[in-house]
Amino acid sequence: MTEQLEGILQQAQQSLVSVEQESDLQAWRIQYLGRASALSQVLDGLKELPREQRPAVGKRANEVKTALETAFAARQAELQAVLLERALERDRVDISLPGRKIPLGRLHPATQTLLEICAIWRDMGFQVYRSRDVETDAYNFELLNIPAHHPARDQWDTFYTTTPGVLLRTHTSPGQIHVMRQRAPEPIRVILPGMCYRYEQISARSEIQFNQVEGLAVGENITFADLKGTLNAFARRMFGDQVQTRFRAAHFPFTEPSAEMDIECFVCGGAGCAVCKQTGWLEILGSGMVHPSVLRNGGYDPERYSGFAFGMGPERLTMLKHRIEDIRYFWANDLRFLEQF
Ligand code: DAH
Repeated sequence: MTEQLEGILQQAQQSLVSVEQESDLQAWRIQYLGRASALSQVLDGLKELPREQRPAVGKRANEVKTALETAFAARQAELQAVLLERALERDRVDISLPGRKIPLGRLHPATQTLLEICAIWRDMGFQVYRSRDVETDAYNFELLNIPAHHPARDQWDTFYTTTPGVLLRTHTSPGQIHVMRQRAPEPIRVILPGMCYRYEQISARSEIQFNQVEGLAVGENITFADLKGTLNAFARRMFGDQVQTRFRAAHFPFTEPSAEMDIECFVCGGAGCAVCKQTGWLEILGSGMVHPSVLRNGGYDPERYSGFAFGMGPERLTMLKHRIEDIRYFWANDLRFLEQF
């Protein structure tokens, strides 16, 4: 009996050494410690033994059992340590790898230019005034000296709403009337940025929506020289100290006299190229002395007060600056375009 026990112990210990996997370990346990194992049979057979042999054999049998259980636990711990080691190796995080970039959103190119323009005017003492996108015919046209059926209306193809007399503003100029009516007879120095809408055939040159920045100065001694000096100062801040400008006579119903301002083409330096259509100049804004009727409509006596106004398009300026050839890029929202700014 004792010899058999020693044999069981030796064999079990030997075979445990070659156990490499959890499943084999469980099989080993069933084989050597399970109900049907040789050891269990020895323990079951104790009662058959002569009385005087039972204590010694029983003691040894329990020792063997404890030894095997201890060996099993030790081997199991070893295997788990190996498995853990392998898992750590396999799932290792390479902390030297560069991180993945989170794409950052940023301002739309038209908004960037809009903010740049606003910042320049703000520094020159102009307040930002927000006016509405939905306007009445009166503010968008009549009060700006553009009567119904007047041919000048052809300049502004209009989106009308189903409510008679209510439309989407075609320019930011109606804001001039709102500001004047709110401030009269105080002096005014404001800019009015915002979206405008026109019922146009969309093409490389025209969109149905775009931003404008309107400007208005009203006071007791404002002259055309102030208009030129102020707009020249703006151009220098926007395009650099070297910029050359010129004023060309133009016509707008709400200003008299009216002028368009050009800057020397920064692509060719004035020599003539495709961007400036061989003229050497780029038109950047419309302007003029506020028409007496418009001043009156705003609540200012044109005998005593005068003013200048101007309007410019941030998208147009952005196109000139970055040589963007198609205005449709601005609202197409193609990331390949937007991400360049
Ligand atoms: N409102 C004009 C337009 O949409 C631009 C403009 C021209 C505004 C002259 C002005 C101005 O204030 O004086 O074409």
